[in-house]
Amino acid sequence: MTGPESEGRKLRRAVCPGSFDPITNGHLDIIARASKLYDVVHVAVMINQSKQGLFTVEERMDLIRQVTRDYGNVEVESHHGLLVDFCKQRDIPAIVKGLRAVSDFDYELQMAQMNNGLSGVETLFVPTNPTYSFLSSSLVKEVAAWGGDVSHLLPPVVHEALTRRLAEK
Ligand code: PNS
Repeated sequence: MTGPESEGRKLRRAVCPGSFDPITNGHLDIIARASKLYDVVHVAVMINQSKQGLFTVEERMDLIRQVTRDYGNVEVESHHGLLVDFCKQRDIPAIVKGLRAVSDFDYELQMAQMNNGLSGVETLFVPTNPTYSFLSSSLVKEVAAWGGDVSHLLPPVVHEALTRRLAEK
């Protein structure tokens, strides 16, 4: 056995949470960077029953698994409930979030402080790659639904799935 566990060290874990409907290159950039900093990165697809997604939670997880497979240390799961409970159940001390712009900051700070107050979990903010600073799943879906080209904003397998899903509608 090699690696941190053989050295008697606890695995350093972090979670990247989100709706991921679907995962974009912006999300993937944050997950890739987190996967270099932590031993295990949990990607948590948070279930929001009041929001009707374009993709089912299973479909989103499947796409995330396909595009993160090569990283070797990413685990994809879903969760219905509080993010802090997901963290507690898996002994995860850190949440990693991308910050695209100042406009993200207010709400992200509120959530980070609430989560820290609830359970002591820390939130680490990673500045989004400027190439993706305007990118969101909602915007990608809107542009794609009107026939705009979003192929450069999504991993190819996700772009194919989105094109198929929109054609079915
Ligand atoms: O991709 P999104 O929709 O911007 O992600 C937001 C998400 C899912 C990370 C956030 O809403 C969340 O953590 N929801 C889980 C429920 C929860 O813990 N709510 C309290 C937040 S302080």
